[in-house]
Amino acid sequence: MLQAQLTIDPAHRVAPVRRRTFGTFVEHLGRCVYTGIYEPGHPTADEEGFRGDVLALTRELGVTTVRYPGGNFVSGYRWEDGVGPRERRPRRLDLAWHSTETNEIGVDEFVRWTRVAGLEPMMAVNLGTRGVQEAVDLLEYCNIPSGTALSDLRIANGAKEPHDIRMWCLGNEMDGPWQIGHKTAREYGRLAAETARAMRMVDPGLELVACGSSGSSMPTFGTWEATVLEETYDLVDHVSCHAYYEEKDGDLGGFLACANDMEHFISTVVSTADQVGARLGSRKKISLSFDEWNVWYMSRVQAAAPRQDWPVAPPLLEDHYHLADAVAFGSLLITLLRHSDRVAAACMAQLVNVIAPIMTEPGGRAWRQTTFHPFAQAARHARGDVVRVEPVCPTYETAEFGEVPVLHAVATQDEAGMTLFVVNRSTTEPLELALDAGPLGAGGGAVRIAEATTLTHEDVYARNTADDPDRVAPRPNTDHRSDPLRIVLPPVSWNVIRLSRA
Ligand code: AHR
Repeated sequence: MLQAQLTIDPAHRVAPVRRRTFGTFVEHLGRCVYTGIYEPGHPTADEEGFRGDVLALTRELGVTTVRYPGGNFVSGYRWEDGVGPRERRPRRLDLAWHSTETNEIGVDEFVRWTRVAGLEPMMAVNLGTRGVQEAVDLLEYCNIPSGTALSDLRIANGAKEPHDIRMWCLGNEMDGPWQIGHKTAREYGRLAAETARAMRMVDPGLELVACGSSGSSMPTFGTWEATVLEETYDLVDHVSCHAYYEEKDGDLGGFLACANDMEHFISTVVSTADQVGARLGSRKKISLSFDEWNVWYMSRVQAAAPRQDWPVAPPLLEDHYHLADAVAFGSLLITLLRHSDRVAAACMAQLVNVIAPIMTEPGGRAWRQTTFHPFAQAARHARGDVVRVEPVCPTYETAEFGEVPVLHAVATQDEAGMTLFVVNRSTTEPLELALDAGPLGAGGGAVRIAEATTLTHEDVYARNTADDPDRVAPRPNTDHRSDPLRIVLPPVSWNVIRLSRA
């Protein structure tokens, strides 16, 4: 059995837990909207056609914000197509996903769904095929209470109150050659600045996100952020980061260490943004909106033959996650929490059916994928302040990241106690973790493990299905003792340990 020690010192506070860390993403892509959140005629659908089973799982997941309507989709989207009487809404080619968009759902329905679900909407504007005017029009439609052509149109369409959307993304992945209207950093930076300036004339209090890189392996990574921020520094609040990971060539150990790339991504963007700020003589700090992250077997999509047809809501990007995916996913979540001082928002991409924690059958069942569990547990238990912890533990060698620690962890603390989120990346060995809860015990007597759960499985490739939805789910971990505090973490596991005073 491997051995490790971990000291929790509340003095190593990073920042408050940001609720927007637990954001998600709904794109008009595949079955995320249609037969995902929306399916009129489904046995659980409400009078607006929103699936009640998906709403219940969304609430259980604990998501806070939701980005919409894309993604690559937004770069060809005309928001006007999706408002007004449904029978007059046009069907359009969606070039990004080679599908037909029926526009049955648009901004008004989406915002209504977020209200029912209790989520904050986060809107992206099209800076691929469109520009300043269309972005300002959408903002007027959404946020002006009344008395202008577009705000009155919203009211006439049934939305009496303004949508009051605070966070806006200035385009999507404009650094990517796959993006409709792809631009150079200078071209995009200029357009983003012009759009931001005009949007702030409508509403100075908006939070605006400039597009950063679509991945740390993009050839323009770093220089893209520097150029875009040179143009937009005073006009935006956040720069976006997007990252997806998958197991490649059977290298499970390397995959479980993928959070190393996310660490590198975050620290590079933070130092690049700070360097631009220093050059401009600004004291303002740009924060990060990690508004797309997940495990995604993108190589399978790239290997597939190009589509010849234009289907409505086809099954696309429907990855079925296994235990190891959920553990890598948990490690990414730990990384986002560890950087709560600069990562102000994050969106797990996406919510339903499309690389998602929730899966549905059209007309049928909905269930939790393996990745549902780390997210739901962290959203529920990460409260108060983030506390940095650095376990003393064995390491292992990976081809991509060199030597990496077998444990990856973060803690949060509130009045009720402390919660540790820990991943054991060893593919073979259980690990005994000795805990020193330090000052949590001072003056308050001993510290005990109030509750511990583990997400693991003897088959690291075990998945949940509609017929066996709880095959991979957190179970109580009773393999622990007090005085001194110790707990055993199985190989390839995600663990949540709640500590309180004895
Ligand atoms: O989330 C799926 C896709 O990944 C999004 O549309 C795009 O922004 C990214 O490349």
